[in-house]
Amino acid sequence: MQGKLVLGNWKMNGRLAANLALLQAMLADADINRAGVGIAAPYPYLAQLGAAFAGSQLAVAAQDVSRYAADGAFTGEVSADMLADMGCRYVLIGHSERRQYFAEDDACLRQKLQAAVTAGLVPVYCVGETLQERESGRFAEVVGEQLQALDAISGKEYVVAYEPVWAIGTGRVASIEQIDEAHRLILERVLQCHGASASIRVLYGGSVKADNADAILSLASVGGALVGGASLEVKGFGKICQSA
Ligand code: G3P
Repeated sequence: MQGKLVLGNWKMNGRLAANLALLQAMLADADINRAGVGIAAPYPYLAQLGAAFAGSQLAVAAQDVSRYAADGAFTGEVSADMLADMGCRYVLIGHSERRQYFAEDDACLRQKLQAAVTAGLVPVYCVGETLQERESGRFAEVVGEQLQALDAISGKEYVVAYEPVWAIGTGRVASIEQIDEAHRLILERVLQCHGASASIRVLYGGSVKADNADAILSLASVGGALVGGASLEVKGFGKICQSA
């Protein structure tokens, strides 16, 4: 049974000088500097993370990946093989902000998932419903549809991030009951498709903070956390990592 995984998602934030100070503070924090913790940074800073984390157990993660696997005429794209070459272990795929702002549909996400697994990366596949879908009682249907993209993927381990869109960046964290219900649904769906022995962790994301992390991460159905805003400062992120 793998331990709980805590990934910070810096989103579109960071500059070299500020990153260096933050990374050095993370490396000096025993709650953060350990196996099972990682940071997803924007592409330009992955080399800086790789250099800073060298020799530590902290993992480097990317926030996205090209749907195209082979090198070539794909201007602006970054391939899964390039991310592996940069020392990435994880890659976020299908984050709600990319589904919303960049129209990433099921076909695109299936290609990204396959490219990531082929390159030896561990995809962190993000699913979650909007407030309208939650309030209309459709969350299970929506998350179930999103999970279909994983059906054709044969990975060594599966990591899914359940991030209710209405809880992201809002301070309105999902209730313990809502989190447990969604995580159990996802676990059941993935194990049903990939076999009861499949390695699967479901991370919760959406306003995870130092003051709610203990309750969330104590759930057996929660395999870790995907942390946005709170991963940009060491004290709060350290408390979240301590709870895992
Ligand atoms: O990927 C994690 C992110 O979507 C959650 O953001 O700021 O609500 O922790 P935040």
